[in-house]
Amino acid sequence: MTLRTIARAPRLYDLHPPADRLWEDVRAGLALRPRKLPPKYFYDEAGALLFDRITRLEAYYPTRTELRILDRHMGEIVEAIGPSARILELGSGSGLKTRHLLHHLLRPASYMPVDISRAQLMEFATSIAGELPALEVLPVCADYTQEWTPPAGQAQAARTVAFFPGSTIGNFEPDDAVAFLRRVRSLCGPGGGLLIGVDLHKDRPTLERAYNDGEGVTAAFNLNLLERINRECGADFDTGAFRHHAFYDERRRRIEMRLVSTRHSTVTLPGRVPGGREPPSEFHFEPLDFITTEYSHKYTLPDFRELARATGWEVERMWTDERCWFSVWLLRA
Ligand code: AVJ
Repeated sequence: MTLRTIARAPRLYDLHPPADRLWEDVRAGLALRPRKLPPKYFYDEAGALLFDRITRLEAYYPTRTELRILDRHMGEIVEAIGPSARILELGSGSGLKTRHLLHHLLRPASYMPVDISRAQLMEFATSIAGELPALEVLPVCADYTQEWTPPAGQAQAARTVAFFPGSTIGNFEPDDAVAFLRRVRSLCGPGGGLLIGVDLHKDRPTLERAYNDGEGVTAAFNLNLLERINRECGADFDTGAFRHHAFYDERRRRIEMRLVSTRHSTVTLPGRVPGGREPPSEFHFEPLDFITTEYSHKYTLPDFRELARATGWEVERMWTDERCWFSVWLLRA
């Protein structure tokens, strides 16, 4: 890093998302039936890199399709958002879509990226601050699925607009999606907006291919969760004893990703380190036992419209692609 880059790095608001919750969540999740681990833990450094690779896969249509929609309608999007907006991004990741938006917006007042992955957050915040010197950049390292308080910035804004691309809303179970959309509405305040990407229900082969790519990147992404638990909690998962499985549950309109046990194994999760007094826990796996690692809900246009309405949002605009595979919505509080 050069001195210039260091001088420009915006100040990080570190709310210390407890990565230490990982241990509790693993212990609790593996005791559940069916076993379940929260998908937010996919995104350690290795996982964030694997996810980046997923977004570039031919089989994984959502990122590409969403980018094309944003691109094609950027003029209408920035006009509908209006000038001097404060942009709040929940889960900024590599920032590919946001860079685009921020460069086109009319005199954006400030940009607050919120992400659990500290290194990736600072990398993007620093580069965007360098590109747009007039923009106030306020990176926040937090777990936005938990309660958190946004720091107050200096810049005066006309309104707050949250940006939630990528169909991450699909990770939430229906009740949690409702709670999340209500929470974003209160974060944005009166007159606030939400620009949200929502993946749509479609034929099963297209959906299943997107989560079962031939290069095995999605499988590696899924299995990295166990590797992370080994690395950070000192567990001893034999990752060779689990295989990636993803299928579309048409009734619930969601992709379910699992890690399926292929043989008998016993996994030991040591007591929490450092300093915990908890005894180690043991988890037994038989062949075909599985851990659910992610749901990715797919919406129909009427479904999502109803969800928005039920959570206090008004649909201002909706854009989609010619195949109706993905949708981008601008909601108003
Ligand atoms: C980032 C949650 C939207 O559900 O499609 C991609 C994550 N998982 N491939 C999705 C993911 C497997 C992705 N989201």
